[in-house]
Order: sequence, then C-alpha cells, then structure tokens
Amino acid sequence: MNEFLLTSDVEEIVQRLEGHALKLAGKTVLLTGARGFLGRYFTEVFLALNQRLPQPVTVVALDNLITAGKAGGEDELPASPNFHFFRQDVIQPFDWEGPVDYVIHAAGIASPFYYRAYPLETMEAAVSGVRNALDLALRKRARLVFFSSSEIYGDPDPANVPTQESYRGHVACQGPRACYDESKRLGETLCYIYHEKHGVHANTIRPFNVYGPGMQENDYRVLPNFANRIKAGAPLKVYGSGHQTRTFCYITDAMVGFLLVMLRGAPGEAYNIGNPKPEISMVELVKRIETVLGRPVAHDVIEYPDSYPADEPNRRCPNIRKARLQLEYAPSVPLEEGLRRFLTWSDRMYTGEV
Ligand SMILES: NC(=O)c1ccc[n+]([C@@H]2O[C@H](COP(=O)([O-])OP(=O)(O)OC[C@H]3O[C@@H](n4cnc5c(N)ncnc54)[C@H](O)[C@@H]3O)[C@@H](O)[C@H]2O)c1
Repeated sequence: MNEFLLTSDVEEIVQRLEGHALKLAGKTVLLTGARGFLGRYFTEVFLALNQRLPQPVTVVALDNLITAGKAGGEDELPASPNFHFFRQDVIQPFDWEGPVDYVIHAAGIASPFYYRAYPLETMEAAVSGVRNALDLALRKRARLVFFSSSEIYGDPDPANVPTQESYRGHVACQGPRACYDESKRLGETLCYIYHEKHGVHANTIRPFNVYGPGMQENDYRVLPNFANRIKAGAPLKVYGSGHQTRTFCYITDAMVGFLLVMLRGAPGEAYNIGNPKPEISMVELVKRIETVLGRPVAHDVIEYPDSYPADEPNRRCPNIRKARLQLEYAPSVPLEEGLRRFLTWSDRMYTGEV
C-alpha cells in the first residue's frame, strides 16, 4: 500500500462499492495518469479488490510522470503481479498486447499552477491523449472513462449554479485558463464523436474539486497550498477577493462516484461528480479549517501571483441529480470530517518547505 494514501480510505471505497465491484473480476483496466492523485487511488482500490474478487483485476498503468512527483515516482510503484507500469506519454499512441475491458483516461495537467507552466502539454494530454485512449478502446471494444473537469462550465451565470450537465458553459477561448478548459471541452467532443460514429461506450466525468490524502505538497491546488502553509506555521494566502466559492468533495466520495460511472454509466453520457454541500468562499474555508484545528489560522487575502492563472470562476457548485438518479451516487463525508482526515495526514506527511 502506497504510504502516501490512507489504507482506511481505500478500504472505505472498496466497502462502498459493494456488489458493483464484481463486474471487475478477471478484467483488465488500462489507466492513464496512473501515478497522479486520482490514478494512485484507482490503482490501490483495484489491488485491494484483488483480495476479494474471484479473479483479479489487471492494471495496465501509464504515466509520463510530468507532475507525478515523489508520491507517484517509480520508487513507489506497487509490487503486484497484476500491476504493470509503463512510462509513456499519452500524446503518443499506446497499446497493450492482451485484452482491455476498461480504459480510464486520467492523464492530464490538473493544477492551475502547472497548466500555467505547461499550457501546450495540458492541451495535448486532453486532446491527443484522449484520442489515443479512444482509439485503443475502439480496437479492444473496451468501455472508456474520460476525466474532463467542472472547468468546462467556465464562469457560469448565477442562474446556472448549482450547475447541471446540460449547461453549455461560459468559457473564454483565449486567456490563462483556456488551455485547460477548452482542451477538456474538445476531449469531451472526441468522446461524443467516438460514441456516435464508432459506438465506443465512452463516459465523461466532470469532477468538482476533489481533495484528500495523497495530494502532493507542491500540487498548488488550494487545499494542499493551505496545508503546506499550516505545516510551515505561515499565514495562508487567499488569492483574489477570497469571495469566490467552491465545493469540496472528499476523495472517498469522489472515487465511489467515478467507479459507478465507469461500471454503470449510460453510453455516451457525462456526469458531474462532486459534493454540492456546502458551497463556501475561500475565506469561509479558512474558518472551517480553524474549526477543525480548534485554533485561529492567520491568513492574508492577496492579488493572484504570476504563477497562478487569474480569471478564475466566481462560483462552482455541482448539481448531482443525474448521478444520484442513474447511479445512486450519494456523497456522504461532511466537509469537516474530510478536512480533519486530510489535515491530520498532511501534518504527518508534509514538510512545510515548498
Ligand atoms: N482532482 C480533481 O479535483 C480534479 C478535478 C477536475 C478534473 N480532474 C482531472 O482528473 C484527472 C486526474 O487528476 P489528478 O488530480 O489525479 O491530477 P494529477 O496531476 O495528480 O495527476 C495527473 C497525472 O497525469 C500524468 N500526465 C500528465 N500528462 C501526461 C501525459 N501526456 N502522458 C502521460 N501522463 C501524463 C501526470 O504525470 C500525473 O501523474 C486530470 O485529467 C484532471 O484534469 C481532477
């Protein structure tokens, strides 16, 4: 078990999948972005399932390690006969000699800090990467799940918050966030085309701010950023006005949702996966952290640094009715509980030095 994740969380995901996981017995999953935050959870969940399933899941794991960091590095690969790792850039075509039943395309440059630094790589991972994944799914007659993002909605007008899947978005095609938002949108279009034209069973997942143990200290998304500053004993840096809102979905809730989409999603459909409650501002997030830690936490509200793409959405909150009704998806970890698990873990694992 990768020490960068919590065994208890992986176990919780496995328990909550119940009988759905039986569909995975004896199957092969090709997982791109396998050494990232979500990819490492998928891997550990499949390997944990192998203790229970009548036949094991085989994991074919691809990653070029561009943002995998220490936790995702080759020294930390799981030792299992059912796990095969290949250092592979998904912009180049890829294959596997045996059968493939599921393709999960999670390779991507997910953190705003990194997609500001690597805009072209960000676009290519979402566009050429998913095209290569779709070609493989077509050849192998596999189901495919594409990790898109809630960012495809851009900055929704307030009448469309909470945001449902049918909302078309309010997105800039030029600007510091366009490389991410627009390439995820085009990746979704490719899934649509391969489904319509070639009958590939492709699903799109739009995650809304997933967090939890396993996020790297230098990930630069908001919660690892805050946790790093807490560990360093330094004031938190809240960017912009601090009034922009987000929802936060704990990793166990998110993983159950992702796996339900993969196993039960209707062909060609996109699903929001997140936790709609509470929708809170970044300043309020600091207050929730104070409640969890039981002490005041100093913070400064500052201008966006150059390293971070400005023009971020004012509000972000999912409507998850579709996943609730079609997949019985029901997030259940309250924010305070998730923060408690994450901050306890980050206090143990982070150095406070980034
Ligand atoms: N975690 C979230 O809250 C969230 C929210 C919305 C969307 N997503 C999407 O879900 C996916 C996984 O997110 P994550 O949080 O695990 O991100 P992550 O950055 O932790 O992991 C992504 C992995 O993909 C790899 N990668 C990047 N480009 C690649 C390429 N060209 N070839 C091979 N590997 C490549 C990286 O090295 C990294 O290990 C991403 O596509 C992301 O955009 C995540």
